[in-house]
Amino acid sequence: MLEFLPEERPIGVQLFGAEPDRLADAAKAVIDWVQPDFIDLNFGCPVNKVVCKHGGSALLRDCPLLERVASTVVRAVAPIPVTAKIRLGWSQETINAKSTAAILESVGIAAIAVHGRTKEQGYSGVADWQAIAEVAEVISIPTIGNGDIHDIDDIARRFAMTKVRGLMIGRAAMTAPWLFAKAKQFLENGSLVHEPLIEERWSHILRHCRMAVAESSSEHHAITAMRARLMAYSKGMPGSRMLRAELQQVASLQDVRDVADRHLDSLS
Ligand SMILES: Cc1cc2nc3c(=O)[nH]c(=O)nc-3n(C[C@H](O)[C@H](O)[C@H](O)COP(=O)(O)O)c2cc1C
Repeated sequence: MLEFLPEERPIGVQLFGAEPDRLADAAKAVIDWVQPDFIDLNFGCPVNKVVCKHGGSALLRDCPLLERVASTVVRAVAPIPVTAKIRLGWSQETINAKSTAAILESVGIAAIAVHGRTKEQGYSGVADWQAIAEVAEVISIPTIGNGDIHDIDDIARRFAMTKVRGLMIGRAAMTAPWLFAKAKQFLENGSLVHEPLIEERWSHILRHCRMAVAESSSEHHAITAMRARLMAYSKGMPGSRMLRAELQQVASLQDVRDVADRHLDSLS
């Protein structure tokens, strides 16, 4: 997870944990290894194996510890910036994003990404952008809004209705990674790029598969590990149910090419 290419910079490495000194040591080790441009602290992860060790969003209900974790890491890695990712709170009844964000700002966190759901919501329901907007009102470091950004309309709307300084895209990165190129164009000069044609999608998918194979010592392993990515790519494609069944079986680059050819044939 620490491997990246120079052209991907600026990059941040995200860590989670609840032991301030160990986390600070981990952050310093990461900086020694790969010189990231910033460290990000994950106070938003709802996954049980993280939360039960008091990591991720568990710290949203222990703000004194969250403060110690954040301040210890900030001090340990200065002048490398440390950012943080939070959710709105643990539950609907205990929403505390504004106070959590204020604490993080007070200990020197450089920017805060806010996912507009609670830990209890997981990924269900819709992100509460009003609550994200309120965080952006109360802190002066940049707020990065996160939740349900799927298209340019969402991007335009969220920038127009809130004071967020950036947006973070989660699941759409897996189904429609070209959204980043579209967003870049739109934000740079307001122009709208067309959705990729189905042929373009397949050529992107095949390129991703080739890159995965090139990075791995086993084509079989790389392609079977790609299946989850392929499922995500197939979302929204015509005939996606059939396509998913086929993609679940692929084990080589040629298998993926064959599925692509059959799919394109079926549409012509
Ligand atoms: C499979 C999966 C893995 C994720 N892993 C992380 C993670 O490691 N760190 C993190 O901050 N968020 C992680 N997230 C959460 C996303 O960053 C994001 O906050 C969430 O999906 C909401 O944004 P979206 O509606 O654009 O997907 C993950 C989400 C998914 C679906």
